[in-house]
Amino acid sequence: MKFNGKVKIVNKQQLQEDIFQLTVEKPSEIDVISPGHFFNLMATTSGSPLLRRPISVSNTTENSIEFTIKVLGKGTEWLSQKRIGDYLEIMGPLGNGFDVNDKMEKVLLLGGGIGVAPIKGLLAHLTNKNIKCDSIIGFRDQPIFVEEFKTFSEYNEIISEKDTNYKLGYVTEYFEKIVKSNNYDAIYACGPEAMLKSLVKVSEGMGLRLQLLMENKMACGIGACLVCTCKVKQGDFDYKHVRMCKEGPMFYSDEVIFDED
Ligand SMILES: Cc1cc2nc3c(=O)[nH]c(=O)nc-3n(C[C@H](O)[C@H](O)[C@H](O)COP(=O)(O)OP(=O)(O)OC[C@H]3O[C@@H](n4cnc5c(N)ncnc54)[C@H](O)[C@@H]3O)c2cc1C
Ligand code: FES
Repeated sequence: MKFNGKVKIVNKQQLQEDIFQLTVEKPSEIDVISPGHFFNLMATTSGSPLLRRPISVSNTTENSIEFTIKVLGKGTEWLSQKRIGDYLEIMGPLGNGFDVNDKMEKVLLLGGGIGVAPIKGLLAHLTNKNIKCDSIIGFRDQPIFVEEFKTFSEYNEIISEKDTNYKLGYVTEYFEKIVKSNNYDAIYACGPEAMLKSLVKVSEGMGLRLQLLMENKMACGIGACLVCTCKVKQGDFDYKHVRMCKEGPMFYSDEVIFDED
C-alpha cells in the first residue's frame, strides 16, 4: 500500500561532503518495499522547489527506510539540512522495481555513482535470500559503500576514475571481462546514463538482457502528469510511450531507447 504522510528521521549519516543518508521510521501502512522502489520526498517548506524529489530506497528493515542522497540543487540541499528527530513528508513506495526471482542462484550487480544506492538495497535483499551476488561499482572519485559491497559480494570490484587506492577505469571494462567467464541468472544496473548506454552496447553484442534502473525528470511520481514520459521499443521496429515513474523506472536493456548524444 502507498503511504503519503510524515515520517520521523531516526538516523542521519554524512558519507561524503555532498552525500548523506537519512533513515526514517517505516510507517505500518506500508507492507512491501521492493528493491528499486523509490519515494517522492517533499524537499521544501517554502513552496520552492514545488515538486517532490524522487529518491530510491537504499535499504529497508522491518522498521526503517533508508535513503542515500547526493546534493545537486535546491531540493537535495534542503534535505541535507534535516536532522535526526525532524519529520519528512514522503510518498511511496513508487515504481515497478527490479524483477527478482527466488530461484536465481547467481546474479551480477552493476552500480555507478549515486546509482549504487538502490543497488546496495538490492544486494541486501538478494543476500537475505541466499542468492549469490557478484558486483562491480564505479565512481568518478572516492567510492561509497565499499565495506557493504566487499562483505556481501562473492566477487567485487571497486573502480574509480581518479582515486588511485582503487582500480582505475570504468565499470564497462570490468563488466565485459566478468560476463565472459560467468553465466548469470540476472544482471542489474543503475548509474549515469553514459554508463548504462555503454553497458547496453556491450551486452547487446553478447546477447545479454540487463535490468536497468533509469532516471528521468519527474513530478507527480504516480503516473498522472505525464512529465516523465519516454519511449521504449515495442517489437523490432516500433516504439510506445511509457511513464518512467509508473511502468518504470526499471526497464530491460532491449526495450530502452536512449536520447541521442
Ligand atoms: C526514480 C529516481 C530515483 C532517484 N534516486 C536517487 C537516489 O537514490 N539518490 C539521489 O541522490 N538521487 C536520486 N535521484 C535523482 C534525484 O531525484 C535528483 O538529484 C533530485 O531530484 C535533484 O533535485 P534538486 O532540487 O536537488 O536539484 P535541481 O535543482 O532539480 O537540479 C539541480 C541540477 O541537477 C540536475 N538534475 C536534476 N535531477 C536530475 C537527475 N535525475 N539526473 C541528473 N541530473 C539531474 C538538474 O538538471 C540541474 O542541473 C533519483 C531520480 C529518480 C528519477
Ligand atoms: S512523474 Fe507524473 S506521470 Fe510520471
